[in-house]
Amino acid sequence: MNPSPRTLTVALGPRSYDILIGSGILSAIGPELKTRFRGQRVAVVSNETVAPLYLAQTRRSLEEAGFRVTPIILPDGESHKNWITLQRIFDALIENRFERGDALLALGGGVIGDMTGFAAACHQRGVPFVQVPTTLLAQVDASVGGKTGINHPLGKNLIGAFHQPCLVLMDVDTLATLPQREHRAGLAEVIKYGVIWDKELFGLLETRLETILAGEPSLLTELLHRCCAIKAEIVAMDERELGTRALLNFGHTFGHAIESLTGYDAWLHGEAVAAGMVVAARFATRLGLCPAEASERVCALIQRAGLPTRLPAYPVDHYLEAMIHDKKVAFGNMRFILPETIGRAVVRDNPSAADLTATLAAHMES
Ligand code: NAD
Ligand code: GLY
Repeated sequence: MNPSPRTLTVALGPRSYDILIGSGILSAIGPELKTRFRGQRVAVVSNETVAPLYLAQTRRSLEEAGFRVTPIILPDGESHKNWITLQRIFDALIENRFERGDALLALGGGVIGDMTGFAAACHQRGVPFVQVPTTLLAQVDASVGGKTGINHPLGKNLIGAFHQPCLVLMDVDTLATLPQREHRAGLAEVIKYGVIWDKELFGLLETRLETILAGEPSLLTELLHRCCAIKAEIVAMDERELGTRALLNFGHTFGHAIESLTGYDAWLHGEAVAAGMVVAARFATRLGLCPAEASERVCALIQRAGLPTRLPAYPVDHYLEAMIHDKKVAFGNMRFILPETIGRAVVRDNPSAADLTATLAAHMES
């Protein structure tokens, strides 16, 4: 491992865990696990794209530290985040007689992380798991906080569990192989933290966007640290999303509707969140909650990042129907996260239906 990694802790009492961020961390997975985990076996869950890139290095490190490794390689893609693929993880764990003390390790993006975490939550009623996120999106968001699950044809992430990892290891070097489109999609979640929580982060993105898009490692490490610190703080305050954690869903009510309407494979999650954040910001302005100057800054940054700012063209009713199936519907209320300014957002239930319909219609691709 290169100079000591930066470490954060998600403080959740007996379920607290560390996040290690740095360069060369894949080669240190074995020793890092050894100091925290007494089991003998690790099932490394990855996919057909990530395994050829990073499985050998991960496996070597684990085996040198004395672990027995079982790779489980799944098909790649959001459209495989379902029961059929999940069953393949259980098949491998059961056929290979994985026990309660053994661990799962997610090596990949948010899809692999969410499915591995859910399998770990269910196998033998809960086994430990480690997140090794390899996309920007999974590093800044999905790998931290213990939300796990799969999609249902009627809605995104509707089946799942809260199950915290016992360690998160993020190697900034893995981002070097990430396609540019995925890199931009990950930036959407970084922009999200700026809008809901950290106006200085938003300013940094505005001034250094080109360097970030070019993948400058020290700046990326700084961004990972900053985003994970925010997420760790929010999750420690509200692990089960009874209050503040809902702010992390900014852009997601609209974004999840895009993903479910488009069948989970045309739009990347981060792209859908980006367009969703633009619509949510403009909606907040329309409702008189957010000055137009702030919502225009959100829109401009998303556009400069090469992310979509409009919704795919479907009838407004289809959007409303998809949003009703979203998890954020509580007691029949449709829930939106709306910015009040850059760096601060609020939760609003059932805002004006007429304004919602008009905002949706105004943001449809022609
Ligand atoms: P993804 O997991 O589909 O990864 C994106 C693509 O990049 C895939 O094709 C993957 O194989 C490939 N890839 C991964 N690492 C790579 C690397 N280093 N080099 C080259 N290619 C690589 O998508 P994602 O954007 O990482 O995650 C999106 C998922 O995360 C969604 O399902 C979303 O619901 C979920 N998510 C979960 C949370 C949470 O809190 N649990 C938060 C945000 C998003
Ligand atoms: N990505 C939203 C959350 O973790 O709560």
